[in-house]
Amino acid sequence: MALFLAETTGISVLFALPRFREGEFGGKITVNASDFPKVNDPPVANNQGKFWMVTTDKGVLALYKVCTHLGCIYAWDNLADRFACPCHGSQFQEDGAYIAGPAPRSLDKFAQEAYNQAGKLVANSDDGSPMPLPSDAVIVKVNTGKKILGKSHF
Ligand code: FES
Repeated sequence: MALFLAETTGISVLFALPRFREGEFGGKITVNASDFPKVNDPPVANNQGKFWMVTTDKGVLALYKVCTHLGCIYAWDNLADRFACPCHGSQFQEDGAYIAGPAPRSLDKFAQEAYNQAGKLVANSDDGSPMPLPSDAVIVKVNTGKKILGKSHF
């Protein structure tokens, strides 16, 4: 009986643990707040977390780098000032909003949290909307385990 309890407790603890560790895709990726581009500057790629770091006049965003059509990796087109997918031509605004092409929805986003030097939470965006960065924010944790689907345009 004791062995059975130990096994079931162990299995329960195993399932209760997070599946992804901090710092790897699927978990929370920490970036410096200063690594986000300035407003009107091109997005910055974060390859570890598979997201684009974007700053709009409403705040910062972390856009999942996978196209919402069939999963190709899209890129920033500096000349056209938009994201463009090389596979079937879908296009998106800097904030991830759908512009054109076969993609059924805008780009997906990740939830974010911002912390100050003391480690205090100073801002968060659970729904993936642009997160205004307070002046004392020093790090941003992008939760790649919490993807918010882009808005459908159908
Ligand atoms: Fe991006 Fe088809 S996968 S447009």
